[in-house]
Amino acid sequence: MKLNLITKITLCGLLLNGFYGQAQKTNLVVNTSNTVTKIQPTMYGVFFEDINFAADGGLYAEMIKNRSFEFDTPLMGWEQPNSDTHSFNNESGIATTIKALENKTNPSFCRVLVKNDTGFEMINVGFRGMGIKKDAQYNLSLKAANHNGAIKKIIIQFIDKDKKVLGETSIVPTSNDWKEYSAQLTAIQTEAKAQLKITFEGTGTIDLDMISLFPEDTWMHRKNGMRKDIVQLLYDMKPGFLRFPGGCIVEGRTLAQRYQWKKTVGDVAKRETLINRWNTEFSHKPAPDYFQTFGLGFFEYFQLAEDLGAQPLPILSCGMACQFNTGELVPMEELDPYVQDALDLIQFANGSVETPWGRVRSEMGHPKPFNLKFIGVGNEQWGPDYIARYKVFEKAIKDKYPNMTIVSGAGPFPEGDYFDYGMQELKKLNAEIVDEHYYKNPQWFRENATRYDNYDRKGPKIFAGEYAAQSVAIASPDNKNNWECAFSEAAFMTGLERNAEVLNLTSYAPLMAHEEAWQWTPDLLWFNNLEAYGSANYYVQKLFATNRGTDLINITKDGKPVTGQNDLYASAVKDVVSKEVIVKLVNTSATTQEVNVDLKGSKLASKGTLTTLTSANLEDENSFANPKNISPTESEIKVKNNNALTSLPAYSVTVLKIKMK
Ligand code: AHR
Repeated sequence: MKLNLITKITLCGLLLNGFYGQAQKTNLVVNTSNTVTKIQPTMYGVFFEDINFAADGGLYAEMIKNRSFEFDTPLMGWEQPNSDTHSFNNESGIATTIKALENKTNPSFCRVLVKNDTGFEMINVGFRGMGIKKDAQYNLSLKAANHNGAIKKIIIQFIDKDKKVLGETSIVPTSNDWKEYSAQLTAIQTEAKAQLKITFEGTGTIDLDMISLFPEDTWMHRKNGMRKDIVQLLYDMKPGFLRFPGGCIVEGRTLAQRYQWKKTVGDVAKRETLINRWNTEFSHKPAPDYFQTFGLGFFEYFQLAEDLGAQPLPILSCGMACQFNTGELVPMEELDPYVQDALDLIQFANGSVETPWGRVRSEMGHPKPFNLKFIGVGNEQWGPDYIARYKVFEKAIKDKYPNMTIVSGAGPFPEGDYFDYGMQELKKLNAEIVDEHYYKNPQWFRENATRYDNYDRKGPKIFAGEYAAQSVAIASPDNKNNWECAFSEAAFMTGLERNAEVLNLTSYAPLMAHEEAWQWTPDLLWFNNLEAYGSANYYVQKLFATNRGTDLINITKDGKPVTGQNDLYASAVKDVVSKEVIVKLVNTSATTQEVNVDLKGSKLASKGTLTTLTSANLEDENSFANPKNISPTESEIKVKNNNALTSLPAYSVTVLKIKMK
């Protein structure tokens, strides 16, 4: 048979296509019967730090900024539009602050002189406004001392930018002395940028403090509660642990500004306000109004961990201020109070109600222990000063609480002198769990899926405590939570999972950011005053965490782990409780890949599910306008003779789940 040239070329093309078509079908073999190691319940957790207005103005549902007038500028957040604060002859009245030092932790209050009983108004601007929802109820409380009963009524209103009233209530202040009052407002309209206006009937002087406003509908309807929508996103992830309160915030720019947990428990009104270290950290994102009221304090973090079903993982200052800032050091001979804070924290969490700190916990409403198992010493510390201090903490904690697992840190970078020195010294000390941090470009994440393959199985366990792919540069304000970053993290996470013998805890960082008040990007969740959504990275984390499994099993291609050959990454687990085999597959290439998963060792159901996260473009993101742009879709997959054949879309993360009979 004679063939013309075009036919020859076409045939040749078909043959080549066939050849490559076959070559592109990758066969992966899963051995379901051999457990490599157990997957720790803590494998996938969350890292919480009060950065990006994550606590005040975020998770903590308080809507009033500077409720107790303790910011460095005591009237920050409060406006008095009808008052000429530079003149004694102002028409309507004036609010000033007074610092009464006998109230050690909450010394300032606001003294209001009302001269004209219709004109004077105080307005709280909220955290870049207040988000109010139509028909929702809001609980207001305040303390007032009404001098000589001069003020007849305090009128409290939601207003919008045009001063339209969106909800109203009032309080009759009945006492000359300090007294607490409360009232409820209902919003008549949804508004993202509401403010709270306070006016007065009567003329004279009234003192005000702790002016507080919470939605009624907080998480679990708790007073002093948290935003329900944000906690729900965390809850849906089923995190294995909750690390708190950071991050660098643990260390402080100076020692005086370090996080001191004892100042964050007990009566909310007595918790001492402190500047937030992220207030001034980045000149490109100054946040002069960023303070910590600690209304969200250690009790609330423990309670949140319990609500989430997560192990609490507090990290404490080890007597070293942030080494990127002042690096202030506590002399070794003055370290005792810091060590005592750690011991007392364990008592606060786990001690009986007869112990001093157990009693504090109990009086706050939680007589049962919080079952603390882990405690972290220092955040991103490095050098011999850290090792010297770590040793002191380790001895004191282990002497008193031998079963407590201590988390130490390898510094801010995943390689280099600080890292090598820290790791080497911590290994010598038989450290139990070492925290590693990596903020790197997406390519690094793809290339480092094998990072832990050669880690010593008998050495310290690893806590991948802070990581996130940076699309531009570390902490660049132009970084995006884009799809390339998210699937690159997924590729890397198959490496974490494959090395679960070493990796016991992992978490993305930072956790969340306010749309308008952030300092650091990328972040796992984004919120404004009305809404919150998960980034593409969130869905990757959620997919891994909700498909954690109980036992690591092997998945190989040509007998080797799947670590980027043909841009394909994979890990596999089984869940002995739900009796499922779960395979995670990441295709980082720009083309679809045919994959056959050959599951040996168990009888399997004839069909399974595929959960897929994918998006066409590397730059794609989720947003307030399109919060589920990149989110999982589910489909069914047939399983024939223990083989599951599927097409992995370009740039995709897929979870294959099949019941074991
Ligand atoms: O996640 C933001 C910061 O990055 C953390 O506070 C710190 O530990 C790290 O440098």
